[in-house]
Amino acid sequence: MTVYTVALSKGGSTKTTTAAEVVAALTRAGRRVLAIDLDHQGTLSQRLGVDDDTEVPGTAAEVLTGQADAGQAAVESPSVPGAHVLVGTYELNTLETKPEVITALKEHLPEVAGEWDDVVIDTPPGQGLVTLAALAAAEVVIAAVATEGEAYDQVARLEELIEHRVAPRLNRGCRLDWIVPTRHDGRRLHDRDVLAALREDYGSRVTGTVRETVTVRDAYLAGRPVSLYAPAAEVSADYAAALEPIVAASTAQTPATAERQV
Ligand SMILES: Nc1ncnc2c1ncn2[C@@H]1O[C@H](COP(=O)(O)OP(=O)(O)O)[C@@H](O)[C@H]1O
Ligand SMILES: [Mg+2]
Repeated sequence: MTVYTVALSKGGSTKTTTAAEVVAALTRAGRRVLAIDLDHQGTLSQRLGVDDDTEVPGTAAEVLTGQADAGQAAVESPSVPGAHVLVGTYELNTLETKPEVITALKEHLPEVAGEWDDVVIDTPPGQGLVTLAALAAAEVVIAAVATEGEAYDQVARLEELIEHRVAPRLNRGCRLDWIVPTRHDGRRLHDRDVLAALREDYGSRVTGTVRETVTVRDAYLAGRPVSLYAPAAEVSADYAAALEPIVAASTAQTPATAERQV
């Protein structure tokens, strides 16, 4: 089981969009995936098809506080076959003052390794305790960076957070593994500058770019990752290429289904 965490402190940097695509890429490879939505706005849950009519047995907040087990609380994604979701609700906000949540996922996720092949965690904006909990449990850390925006310097902040607060004790060896440049439009000087700066600072950790297109928003309204909503769209090919080296950690293993049949 590989635990993927998508982070960056700035809101609107395309974390959630990218997390949903990681879920989609893994399930396409036959992996059973648990998606954990740690943003109180529940945007990842919505991108995975959860809406007001979905009956939800438990929440991510309940799992973080030990009131529910992930296995009982997760709901099947209505739109992504092979994925389950721990939904994000407003209670997540109240956890930012409870230090015990920091180690909750790190301690409990190993228990669900029989049920899911991989875990994908989406984080809220900021560098609070809930984000620390996601980083403490992470095996692969991914920063999603909209090159059209101003989040570039946040990558260094995330790296500092990992270096100073996560890697020393919470999660030894944790590092910022990947940077996915998104909302990219190479016709804009700003986007080209941001991409060049990322590549200079982070080298081969920077994946291929994901273009900017309204299809991503349409997919959100339809409650689906864009690669399921519009599989033939260029943006879906962008995401497939960008995420391929990232999910290789999982997909290079014996196909999960074949493993289960043994
Ligand atoms: N490739 C893209 N092209 C156009 N819009 C995008 C793209 N990726 C994300 N978006 C939009 O950008 C906004 C922020 O994305 P989101 O994933 O919610 O960011 P975060 O989770 O970091 O706050 C959303 O409205 C989303 O639909
Ligand atoms: Mg988000």
